[in-house]
Amino acid sequence: MFKVRTLNNISVAGLERLPRDRYEVASDLQNPDALLVRSADLHQMEIPPSVKAIGRAGAGTNNIPVAAMSARGVPVFNAPGANANAVKELVLAAMLLAARNIWPALEFVRGLDGDDQTLHKLVEDGKKNFVGFELPGRSLGVIGLGAIGVRVANAALDLGMEVYGYDPAITVHNAWQLNSSVQQALSVDDLVSRSQFVSVHVPLLDATRKLINAERLRLMKAPGVVLNFARAEIVDEDAVLQALEAGRLHAYACDFPSRKLQGQRRVIATPHLGASTTEAEDNCAVMVADQLREFLEVGNVRNSVNFPEAVMPLLPGKQRLAIVNANVPNMVGQITTALAQHQLNIADLLNKSRGELAYTLVDVDQAIPAGLAAEISAIRGVLATRVIAS
Ligand SMILES: NC(=O)c1ccc[n+]([C@@H]2O[C@H](COP(=O)([O-])OP(=O)(O)OC[C@H]3O[C@@H](n4cnc5c(N)ncnc54)[C@H](O)[C@@H]3O)[C@@H](O)[C@H]2O)c1
Repeated sequence: MFKVRTLNNISVAGLERLPRDRYEVASDLQNPDALLVRSADLHQMEIPPSVKAIGRAGAGTNNIPVAAMSARGVPVFNAPGANANAVKELVLAAMLLAARNIWPALEFVRGLDGDDQTLHKLVEDGKKNFVGFELPGRSLGVIGLGAIGVRVANAALDLGMEVYGYDPAITVHNAWQLNSSVQQALSVDDLVSRSQFVSVHVPLLDATRKLINAERLRLMKAPGVVLNFARAEIVDEDAVLQALEAGRLHAYACDFPSRKLQGQRRVIATPHLGASTTEAEDNCAVMVADQLREFLEVGNVRNSVNFPEAVMPLLPGKQRLAIVNANVPNMVGQITTALAQHQLNIADLLNKSRGELAYTLVDVDQAIPAGLAAEISAIRGVLATRVIAS
C-alpha cells in the first residue's frame, strides 16, 4: 500500500485515479510516501523523510521548496497544460466580446428603464451604437506557442481567422499540435505589424515584461484588440490606455483587473478566471495523480519541475532499481559495478540528467538481493534509491 497525504481539497476525479486497494489517501496520514497539494505552503512545514514524491495539482510550484526536495532526491510533479483549454475558451470569449461590443451593449441594456414597449424602442434606437465586426479574415497574432497559445491559434483558424505565431523556443510536441496553416512570424515586431488581434501566451520573465508596449501597439493594425490572459506585467497598461484613448486600439481584454483599468471603456477585465473551470481543476488533479502513481509504482518520471523526463516500460518479471544521484562523472559506472558484484544481469538501463541531478533506472532479470539498495545509497553522490518489482 502507498500512502498519499493530501494537503488541500483535491478533486475527486484525481483521487479516483489512486485505487483503494493500493493507495491509502487522507489528510492526516503519518509517514506518507507522497504529498498531493494545490496551494498549501510547504515552505512552512516539515516534510517527513518518508516522502518520495510531491504532486502539485496546478502549474506553478512557488509553494513547494523545490531546491530542498532536489537535494533530497524527491521529484516535484505539476500539471502543465491541464488548464490550457479553459484559458483558450476564455480568450475566444474575449475576442467575441470585443468584436461584437458585447460589454458596453450589456451595460446599455442594464441601464434601460420603462415598460416593454419603451424598452423595445430604446433597444432598436440604441443598437446602432454597438455595431461590431466578424472574425473571418481578421488577423490574429499569437505570441508564445505553448499549451495555451497552440490551442488559441488552432481555434482561431477554425473561426476563419488568418493566424500568425511567434515562439523561438516552441517544443517539438507543440509544433506537432500546431495547425500547419498558422503562419510563422519572424519576430514580435513582425507579428504585431501583421495582426489586428494580438494574444500573449508567454510566461512572465524579464524578457517578456512589457512585451506589448507603446511602439508595438503603434505597429498593430488599427483598430486593434490586445488579449492578455498570461500575466498583467506582460502588457504596458499605460500604453494600452493611451492607444485606446487615441482610437488605435478597439479593446483591451485581460484577466488582470487593476485600479487603472477599472471603469475604463473598452477594457474587458475578468477576475483571473482563466483556469477557473471545474474541468481544469479535474484535469490538474487527474494528471498529477497519474504521474505520482506512475512514479511510485514504476519509477517513471513525467512532468516534473526538478527531475528529467524518464520513462521506460517495466516488463513483467523484471525488478527495477530507481536511483537519484548527483550529475557527476562515474555514477553509472559505480552503480553497475555494484550490480555486477551481485552477479545481476542488466536487462535495460535508462540514465537521464537535468542540471545538477541525474536519474537512473536499471532493470534486472533476477530478484534484487536485500542490502543492494543500501550499498548503492552509500555511494557518494547518490541521493535516493528504491527497489521496484513489476
Ligand atoms: N489567466 C490564467 O488564469 C492563466 C492560467 C494558466 C496560465 N496562464 C499564463 O499563461 C502562460 C502560458 O501558459 P502555457 O501553459 O501555454 O505555458 P507553456 O510553458 O506551455 O508555453 C509558454 C510558451 O511561451 C514561449 N515563450 C517564452 N518566452 C517567449 C518570448 N519571449 N517570445 C515568444 N514566445 C516565448 C515558450 O517557448 C513556450 O512555448 C503561463 O506562463 C501563465 O503565465 C494564465
